[in-house]
Amino acid sequence: MDIVEFSIERIQSLYENTVDYNLSDSGVHPYTLRELLDAEQINQLLDVELGYGWTNGGVELRQSISKLYKDKNADNVIVTNGSAEANFVLVMGMLNPGDELVVIVPNYLQIWGWAKALNVKVVEVPLREELGWLPDMDELKDAITPNTKMISYCSPNNPTGSVLPQETLEQIVDLARAQGIYVHADEVYKGSELDGNEGPSIADLYEKGIATNGLSKAMALPGLRVGWLAGPKDVIDRAWHCKDYTSITTSSVSEFAANIVVQPQKRSEILERSRTILNQNVATLDEWIKQNSENYSCQLPQAGGMAFVRYSMNINSTDLVHRMRTERSIMLLPGDCYGMDGYIRIGVGAPSDHLKAGLAQLHEFTRGLND
Ligand SMILES: Cc1ncc(COP(=O)(O)O)c(C=O)c1O
Repeated sequence: MDIVEFSIERIQSLYENTVDYNLSDSGVHPYTLRELLDAEQINQLLDVELGYGWTNGGVELRQSISKLYKDKNADNVIVTNGSAEANFVLVMGMLNPGDELVVIVPNYLQIWGWAKALNVKVVEVPLREELGWLPDMDELKDAITPNTKMISYCSPNNPTGSVLPQETLEQIVDLARAQGIYVHADEVYKGSELDGNEGPSIADLYEKGIATNGLSKAMALPGLRVGWLAGPKDVIDRAWHCKDYTSITTSSVSEFAANIVVQPQKRSEILERSRTILNQNVATLDEWIKQNSENYSCQLPQAGGMAFVRYSMNINSTDLVHRMRTERSIMLLPGDCYGMDGYIRIGVGAPSDHLKAGLAQLHEFTRGLND
């Protein structure tokens, strides 16, 4: 199978642990287990039996996750190893060679890449910067054909941090419903909206809506590797069919912690921490962009741990990122990873002193470039 390199992941994996200022992450600074659990829970964790669970996730956990949605039960949920595996089993379960998939871009390009490798025809519809990183609905309409099987978007969006308003989601649903098309949304940043207004899930707006979510981003727990799909039972069953072939189960240790953090009160506490960190850091970035407006501009994110920043220097984004890394030990993500040269992605989920120190270095680096 020919599959294009997943450069968003590969470049981070190669370099993010080799620099002093890693601002390439898209999530919120992670918890330790000690910070997350109380003494009694830590004690209970020590008694967790390290066996296999259910290949679609424990019933209790699936029930708790289903309560994050309207009118869903455990059969509407499959638990996966990270939301990455959720996306993977969705593609494997739902798409066939020759199908058409409309992907709103820029996007975390995992579904895009897998679908292409399966000889699915991938039709891109851009988020328009001039529309506040929202799609032009006429362009979306024109992209749909009788062969369209699914529309896929990521909101809150990686990398722009834009959030599709409910009105736009309803328009997408109307277009899809008219032709019986599935709509998939990667919602792993949902809950990190800076204004505290968590938007609706596609799984609640549309009978053929499928949501990817997990604990890695808004919930700041990527090391647990817990994700899920929520949607119609037949779709979940098809994904489960594939999951039996991939990783069998999630880890019993992770499921124990997941059961705790998806309970409403704990989930709210975690999301509150994420929003506090992000609000503080986005204000810092805003200030920095204003000070560096000769070279950088940005529509600030509405959610998520990253900002997509346009730069005016005459240099390719991958070259720019490698120079920042080798000359100043700062790691960012180049717009090239999204097929969008002229931008860099700056993580805003790091501890605030780390972000400030990294941005100070970036300022010095840019001054050096201009000299
Ligand atoms: C939109 C989106 N979906 C899925 C993932 C995969 O996350 P994980 O498997 O850690 O849940 C990422 C990671 O960056 C992402 O940005």
